[in-house]
Amino acid sequence: MSLLEEIQQIAKNPAGEAESLPFASYHSLEVHEAEQAFIFTQDWVFVCFEADLANPGDYQTLTLAGEPIAVIRGEDNQLRALSNVCRHRGALLLKGNGTLTKKNVSCPYHAWTYSTKGILKAVPYPGMIKVEKESHCLPKFKLESLFGMVFVSLNKSALPLEERFEGLQKYYAEYKVDEFNYSSGIDSEHWNSNWKLAMENFLEGYHFFAVHKETVEPAAPTKKVYYIEGNADWSVSGGKQKNLTRTLLGKMKSKDKDIEYLTICMPPNFVCLLYKEYMSWARALPTGPTTCEITFGVASRYPYRLTRAELEFNDRFFKEDREICERVQEGMSSQRSKAGQLVELEKAIVDFHQYLAKWIFAKNDAFLSELNLKS
Ligand code: FES
Ligand SMILES: [Fe+2]
Repeated sequence: MSLLEEIQQIAKNPAGEAESLPFASYHSLEVHEAEQAFIFTQDWVFVCFEADLANPGDYQTLTLAGEPIAVIRGEDNQLRALSNVCRHRGALLLKGNGTLTKKNVSCPYHAWTYSTKGILKAVPYPGMIKVEKESHCLPKFKLESLFGMVFVSLNKSALPLEERFEGLQKYYAEYKVDEFNYSSGIDSEHWNSNWKLAMENFLEGYHFFAVHKETVEPAAPTKKVYYIEGNADWSVSGGKQKNLTRTLLGKMKSKDKDIEYLTICMPPNFVCLLYKEYMSWARALPTGPTTCEITFGVASRYPYRLTRAELEFNDRFFKEDREICERVQEGMSSQRSKAGQLVELEKAIVDFHQYLAKWIFAKNDAFLSELNLKS
């Protein structure tokens, strides 16, 4: 049985019989390429909140299945996902995130300049050659927002975002996430772990008592984490957290003793902790079979600046997650050891595995039958 078939087989197991994926799935080039082709090129991928791109000229870049993309708020206030590659000789136009210093995107190499709609506006020193501007515009990609969360897709025929995440909207509506119009900034890190390890780690509260013994666990203990519902398209878990005046990432206004939070996964690459007043989100993107880029952000209902103590707290518990994921990655190189059973508190991981199998194989089957037709 090939590794991909093994993943499909394992992902079929219901909770109770479900197992962790074969370790090789977390470092195999074959699996990485299948994910790039059948997941990151096909599905919707989370970028950031609209609030992270509040003003004209604000941009956020990401690389999706090798495709550099810049999401920019245009001068006309519209968000667009443009190719982040100069049409002249291929330089990356923008890096990271920020705000354009001028109203245009200017290439750092020879300063070909594009409008925020992707139209080529200026070509310096063309000499006697006339560069045809209309045929040198930046390609555009699909972009949609759901409750202020911005997603892009390389797939022109991706389902509308609302349909893709059908059934999940009620949670966002209940927490009035469309009112989360403030951003506390975005941070990215490179992790030496497969992107799936990061996603699986963010999805479950099973590790709080062991990995976050002094950080998360005292406020949001493992024993108060529970699974709510999920499927191959998304999952929702919940938890109870002590209502300290300031705890984790925000200021709680509720007077309740315990407050409830949700952990929502919108695969492939988005997980959030959702509270009544804010959401702390993480985005994972593969950068290779054993490396990924992790981006964190916070969106809130009220303007809010994290205090120094909160920033330090966040750094500590993100570091704990990173270290454990990188440690698991080291273990995954084993040829002799074998993945084991998943427990009750890991049901959201079972959903995530079903997602992987669904997308890799839905497209793979179509792809294979296309190959068969050709041969
Ligand atoms: S590569 Fe962009 S202007 Fe030359
Ligand atoms: Fe964690």
